[in-house]
Amino acid sequence: NQKPSNKMIEAHELLKKFYHHLLVNTKEGQDAYDYLINRGFSREIIDEFEIGFALDSWEFVSKFLTKRGFNPQEMEHAGLIIKRNQDETYFDRFRDRIMFPIADLQGKTIAFSGRLLKEIKGQPKYLNSPETSIFNKSRTLYNFHRAKKHIRKNQQVILFEGFADVISAVKAGCPNAIATMGTALTEEQAKIIRRNVESVIICYDADSAGIEAAHKATTILTNVGCTVKIAVMPDGYDPDDYIKEYGAEKFQNDVINSSLTIMAFQMRYLRRKRNLQNESERMQYIEDVLKEISLLTKAVERDHYLRQLAQEFSISLDALKEQQYQVYRTEK
Ligand code: UTP
Ligand code: MN
Ligand code: MN
Ligand code: MN
Ligand code: MN
Repeated sequence: NQKPSNKMIEAHELLKKFYHHLLVNTKEGQDAYDYLINRGFSREIIDEFEIGFALDSWEFVSKFLTKRGFNPQEMEHAGLIIKRNQDETYFDRFRDRIMFPIADLQGKTIAFSGRLLKEIKGQPKYLNSPETSIFNKSRTLYNFHRAKKHIRKNQQVILFEGFADVISAVKAGCPNAIATMGTALTEEQAKIIRRNVESVIICYDADSAGIEAAHKATTILTNVGCTVKIAVMPDGYDPDDYIKEYGAEKFQNDVINSSLTIMAFQMRYLRRKRNLQNESERMQYIEDVLKEISLLTKAVERDHYLRQLAQEFSISLDALKEQQYQVYRTEK
């Protein structure tokens, strides 16, 4: 394992600026720039997030860094270039991709994620830097360094899945937006969040992977002492899609400000698995919900949701409590 080095960070900082220059000032970057503008990223946003472009070249970065006195072996450990097996030469990891710089909690650039302009079979849509001595994925949160002061001021953070979602959300008036980077939220990330704020809104993609991930993130965040709500959107949308289609105001009102408590989210999730017009499925649903309610630690909360359930299905509260007691042995 390599010692973290200033040179590695220096190289990332330098490349970030150069990638950005290539995107906004050169003919080679024009297609990538147009792609971003077509996606709805303004020039302002491109500058703010220091988005860049890596040339379609095998050795641009290798030469760029060598010429400036960086040690190739060290740059390989930094994840920027890769050594060929046959000889001692190096090639660039990121080629022909839109480059999103990734910073540590203090704002130093420690990694990149590069997006394809168009789908290429067998290639990942986003290519990320590998874990290095300066880049620990499970301790990194995209946009945290910029969002931090807003998170503290608003006393709330909004957690997204992807870079594009964060960028769109910031543009739509949510500067307290951060993201994990394609991986499940880790306990370390949750603890970093908790050190800054208690209240978290999870705003993941409205697909099965996103819903599953939201359930897992909820558990992890609750375990470190966060209060969690979950934002929901129509099926198939991600926050970036939603904002583009419905606009910032509707995103604020109907998604962020309408986010659900954990229990309401669970109920919505359970409900979707059953046809409530059918009597036996309705009974199944009630049992599913009873089980969730019995897992709540606060008696006041259990009572609240039991009453809600009783009211919705016109069942007596006593009957619900009786059944819950029989099945789950919670106190009556
Ligand atoms: P998504 O597939 O939801 O991508 O993955 P996205 O954020 O909506 O991206 P666009 O809108 O198509 O540009 C969510 C996140 O998972 C990670 C990225 O961090 C992405 O933002 N991911 C996704 C990868 O690391 N690699 C991939 O190949 C795909
Ligand atoms: Mn700029
Ligand atoms: Mn997704
Ligand atoms: Mn998405
Ligand atoms: Mn998307």
